[in-house]
Amino acid sequence: MNSEDEKLVFYILLRYILTTNKIVVNLTYKMVNQMKGKILKILRESEDYVSGEAIAEELGVSRVAVWKHIRDLKQDGYILESSPKGYKLVSSPDLLLPCEFPDLEQKIYHFREVSSTMNVARELSHQGAKEGTIVIAESQSQGRGRLNRQWLSPEGGIYFTFILRPNISPIYAPRINLMVAVAIAQTIRKLFGLAAELKWPNDILIGEKKVCGILAEMNAETDAINFVNLGIGINVNTPISQLEEKATSLKEKLGKEVSRKEFFHSVVKEITKQQALLTKEDLLEEWRQLSTTLNKNVKIVMPGEEIKGRAIDIDTNGALIVKRADGSLTRAFAGDCIHLL
Ligand code: BTN
Repeated sequence: MNSEDEKLVFYILLRYILTTNKIVVNLTYKMVNQMKGKILKILRESEDYVSGEAIAEELGVSRVAVWKHIRDLKQDGYILESSPKGYKLVSSPDLLLPCEFPDLEQKIYHFREVSSTMNVARELSHQGAKEGTIVIAESQSQGRGRLNRQWLSPEGGIYFTFILRPNISPIYAPRINLMVAVAIAQTIRKLFGLAAELKWPNDILIGEKKVCGILAEMNAETDAINFVNLGIGINVNTPISQLEEKATSLKEKLGKEVSRKEFFHSVVKEITKQQALLTKEDLLEEWRQLSTTLNKNVKIVMPGEEIKGRAIDIDTNGALIVKRADGSLTRAFAGDCIHLL
């Protein structure tokens, strides 16, 4: 077996292992995707057929390796015409494959199905994966939500975990969730003109129905963060029959499917941009502007405690400030927030 074949075998094994519960992730996995991306780039740049020999020569691999990658791309849903003159790309699937995002390609781990992108990301983080690494799955068999809930993850949605290594004190960590929620709501508003709003602590709603949830896992010392893994689930083209009753999808709201590729790319770019705001007051102001929780009567359910009152503000670390009926102020740091009538 040459080294290209070894990579392919590794990739197949990896896919198998990841659909079971035993997760073994290796950072060399990306090399396979890079090759597919390079082949796609060559095909996209040419209006005519490109021979396997020309591709092999340009990429410095064997023709057999090219043929195997072409076969793999076809399995991924790319329509490729083959003729004696070579290969021609006819159409691409709306999958979030690394080769579709040249600027992010090196950072993405993509899976057709995985238990949870959080599990893969945790393993990669412990192995030293870099800031900005992204784990994407087209579907998840054990998607996880906040408070140990299940996150339904059928095909059509976007499920990914962003690995961040912010150089900030752990006390600022909750602001990372606020930042991501703001970035996603802004992207939905800009791209689709939908009135996405933020429900504390970090749900995104459209018309009081949930379209996106964010789950954060942090590994930190007293004064430094090792990593924060941000799990983001967005109901994009998901049929609502496959979602919970209080959820909606972009497709449902728009009455048509949207390009998951374009949306995902915009979301990642916006998160990267908003990161600069992490320690700035502007972030809180943006959150307040987009909030649907502020000025509502709420019930916050926390382990062993319940707070009822009017949500009047958030503090500098993202805690919700609630004014009780007796006028006293209290802070909720985490928990389930219910909007009361
Ligand atoms: C919530 O309860 O609102 C948070 C939902 C977070 C879901 C995302 S989907 C990608 C990542 N993988 C998971 O298993 N969960 C998060």
